[in-house]
Amino acid sequence: MKPINVGLLGLGTVGGGTLTVLRRNAGEITRRAGREIRVTMAAVRDLEKARKFAGNELAITTNPLDVVNNPDIDIVVELIGGYTLAKDLVLQAINNGKHVVTANKALLAVHGNEIFKAAQDKGVMVAFEAAVAGGIPVIKALREGLSANRIEWIAGIINGTTNFILSEMRDKGLSFDTVLKQAQDLGYAEADPTFDIEGVDAAHKLMIMSAIGFGIPMQFDKAYTEGISKLTKEDITYAEELGYRIKLLGITKRTDKGIELRVHPTLIPATRLIANVEGVMNAVLVKGDAVGATMYYGRGAGAEPTASAVVADLVDVTRMLTSDPENRVPHLAFQPDALSNAPILSIE
Ligand code: NDP
Ligand code: HSE
Repeated sequence: MKPINVGLLGLGTVGGGTLTVLRRNAGEITRRAGREIRVTMAAVRDLEKARKFAGNELAITTNPLDVVNNPDIDIVVELIGGYTLAKDLVLQAINNGKHVVTANKALLAVHGNEIFKAAQDKGVMVAFEAAVAGGIPVIKALREGLSANRIEWIAGIINGTTNFILSEMRDKGLSFDTVLKQAQDLGYAEADPTFDIEGVDAAHKLMIMSAIGFGIPMQFDKAYTEGISKLTKEDITYAEELGYRIKLLGITKRTDKGIELRVHPTLIPATRLIANVEGVMNAVLVKGDAVGATMYYGRGAGAEPTASAVVADLVDVTRMLTSDPENRVPHLAFQPDALSNAPILSIE
């Protein structure tokens, strides 16, 4: 069977990780996907940057439209980040009938309604496991594993950078700025790290999980968002002395009046499981009416953990493309035409 051709938009932390994982585990990935997944082209900003991936099989361009408009590419993987260019490129790819994989939570939380509608109209998939909680398959859990349940609430540590900062400040007494710089060097932080430290990235992810769990449209502007930038070493030490840990939590809950959607630092008793999620690790708890509370744990950021989720999406889309076209199940995370109008509650 002919290979599936993939074009990458971006070859940075996650794009590089994606190529590494695809190449290292090619045999197993091909077996699971049913055919070879081959990255044929990648778009970058700076051609002069040293890269270990360029070579005969991979064309590199500085024009992302070379990827998006390439008739030989079946799946476009958006790993550029940001809202504006990424949105134009993803919509153009969908319009060209290409399936899309993205790790871009900002894009989906802000423009997801339009993107999913376009994908539905065009009959293509938009897959985004990597957009929430890095390598933890929490989108799959919400959409597939828990699909029998009425979801009651979702809560968790969903930003690796801030959890890393809080852990390192507590354990090593390092300053906020020193640890933030480490998180940036390790490839955990967003291009604009205020998204991490002000809770915006966590709110993007929470919005996406809430949309899937509760079947509501994306409405990111209504989320209550507070980050960790005002926390001091003293806050962390005092919390510890009182038997608590401070964690940046995202919490979304169904209530009689509507949906709560909030991100803020939270004091958690140090004996609780989630209080002991340290460093770049994330943990997501989901309560369903049938299953009860469930918990998902793993690396929330970084090249290969995130690539693990990107490649899993590539395998999913490839499997779908390999199945009988007459019997394909529409594979959108939520159907834009069938959403609940439960309001998001205002939180002061
Ligand atoms: P990087 O900054 O490491 O990589 C971005 C890539 O996009 C680079 O290769 C860059 O090119 C390329 N790029 C940027 N602008 C353009 C442009 N105008 N034209 C062509 N190429 C361009 O980002 P990450 O890999 O860290 O993040 C990518 C996405 O994944 C973001 O949406 C992020 O939020 C998300 N994500 C990141 C995670 C992480 O742990 N880092 C985890 C989960 C999601 P060049 O190399 O030349 O600079
Ligand atoms: N900046 C994000 C984080 C990357 O630290 O969690 C993973 O989404």
